[in-house]
Amino acid sequence: MFSRQIPRVLGLAAAVALAAGAALGVSSCSYQNEQELFAGEQISCDTVSVTYRGTIAPLLAQHCQRCHGPTRAESGVVVTSHHDVQTLGRTGQLLGVIQHKPGYPAMPDDEPMLGACDINKVKIWVRAGMPDN
Ligand code: HEC
Repeated sequence: MFSRQIPRVLGLAAAVALAAGAALGVSSCSYQNEQELFAGEQISCDTVSVTYRGTIAPLLAQHCQRCHGPTRAESGVVVTSHHDVQTLGRTGQLLGVIQHKPGYPAMPDDEPMLGACDINKVKIWVRAGMPDN
């Protein structure tokens, strides 16, 4: 009778360990994957390979340069070079205007707010020290 019960206890312990492992695996995964945070809004949001030339410059060219470029510089602001954008990042203006924070004019001036994915990319780049990459 004693020898019959040992395998049963071992089996139960293994099942508990498996369940605990599965629960841990699921919870750590969902918090590490930033893409999932935006799943409802956009199919995918690549916040891993954010660079100035590949991500930030094209984004600003599309949404901002019309009014903040060589031909038109509203408020004296231009976003054509890394140096210009870095300066705006340092003063807090870049994140202030795109997030429509109080005290900043909401940008883009004549378009809806940028999507959460784009705003997050700019935040990530600013937090990374605004590299010229
Ligand atoms: C349709 C034209 C237009 C577009 C597009 C536009 N802006 Fe502006 N921007 C303006 C105007 C006009 C002002 C001056 C508004 C004011 O001072 O109230 C301004 C002001 C600013 C300022 C100065 C803010 C301050 O604190 O004085 C910044 C920084 C700025 N824009 C950044 C951007 C960025 C970044 C984008 C793109 C995401 C953008 N703008 C898109 C017209 C535009």
